[in-house]
Amino acid sequence: SANARRASGGELEVAGVPASALTAEFGSPLYVLDEADARARAARIRTSFETAFAAIGATVTVYYAGKAFLSAEVARWMDEEGLAIDVASGGELALALAAGIAPSRLGLHGNNKSLDELDRAVAAGVGAVVLDSAIEIERVADAARRHGVVQRVRLRVNTGVHAHTHEYLATAREDQKFGVPLGEVAGHVARIRSLESLEFLGLHSHIGSQIFDVSGFVEAIGRLLAVHAMLLEGGPVPELNIGGGFGIAYTSVDRVTPIELMAEQLAEAVAREAERNGVAVPNIAIEPGRAVIGPAGLTLYTVGTIKDVEVATAFGSAVRRYVSVDGGMSDNVRPALYGADYSTRIAGRASDAEPVLVRIAGKHCESGDIVVHADYLPGDVAPGDLLAVAATGAYCWSLASNYNYLVRPPVVAVANGAARVIVRGETEADLLARDTGLNPTASGEGA
Ligand code: LLP
Repeated sequence: SANARRASGGELEVAGVPASALTAEFGSPLYVLDEADARARAARIRTSFETAFAAIGATVTVYYAGKAFLSAEVARWMDEEGLAIDVASGGELALALAAGIAPSRLGLHGNNKSLDELDRAVAAGVGAVVLDSAIEIERVADAARRHGVVQRVRLRVNTGVHAHTHEYLATAREDQKFGVPLGEVAGHVARIRSLESLEFLGLHSHIGSQIFDVSGFVEAIGRLLAVHAMLLEGGPVPELNIGGGFGIAYTSVDRVTPIELMAEQLAEAVAREAERNGVAVPNIAIEPGRAVIGPAGLTLYTVGTIKDVEVATAFGSAVRRYVSVDGGMSDNVRPALYGADYSTRIAGRASDAEPVLVRIAGKHCESGDIVVHADYLPGDVAPGDLLAVAATGAYCWSLASNYNYLVRPPVVAVANGAARVIVRGETEADLLARDTGLNPTASGEGA
């Protein structure tokens, strides 16, 4: 992680706090967020897009995709850095509202929002609801009518473009659950415009996640602006939301496109495609999650056991050193779920020992419970060593589980040499308290 530095003594520090001080105070495993780094990334994304799109006469709204990581503090950091917040469920909505975020600065997503979620969002006055289906157009219109408001909406479009990291696959109609096909857009927009309780803001498209190449976005923008020409015959289309998905570096093989360059290329594409289709340049919205919070986080673990496992290779047998830590797929499911790669370092000390090839394993009873598939650590790595795994700020805590009755670790934020808990960790007592076989009074709680 760009934010963690080695102090002169060889120990990893986050914002001036040594890793060992963090685990001594808050325990291990531990999620650590560098507040200044998260804020700087949020501000940099917003500024680069605002600058690039101002050059073509468009404004930009940046939504932080809360699914990547959401807590009240992080919501407030984003708000203070000028980002709106995208929520994808009633729970995320409740958190953002409780954190004091102005409802007008929230957007609601989801392919199957419940009637209750829609009702709460409309009643709260969320800035926009992203409509995902014909059924939902009617549901949101009804909710708005009941509450006596006009709800702003976007329509999510399945452009047929799905950016898979380095390459994109552009089929006529992609086989996935989100949005409505391009060919149905005009009909749905006509329906939205006919409903007095809805105000049409524009189209939305999200083509994927962990994307390095701009070409998938460019393809989607071309397809969307071609539809704008048709839609403009029936009324205004003030904006275009091109989603999130900007990639980050997890290991040294990930080559990240600087966000300024990404923004410029996207602005060029919007200007070019608008001109080609004879439409005005729309205002733009984006929804990054990972690129804002991912690199600002790291996870600290403590090494428990180490074993050398002999493995067969094409050149004969070799040794793979399995270093097991005190967490795993319950605090970071991404390697097991997506084959995601991470990098690790000894955090608590310096070492001049020769590097050895290691695999960092978790403590769960599954062989797929791996935190880092392959990286190098000094050969003197030993039980009790602290390890840092970089870039765990996005989709780790938010996807965490209690598998094997492990507790979710706390999340601490570090700023200016001081650390504080922003989400407390669970205790075993928390886990046992909700079991009605142990505690009959727990029944009905949370229902
Ligand atoms: N907007 C929409 C509609 C989305 O579905 C997503 C992510 C985002 C924005 C934010 O994407 P980001 O900028 O964070 O890539 N759990 C997976 C990623 C799932 C992304 C789901 N949607 C992972 O850990 O890689």
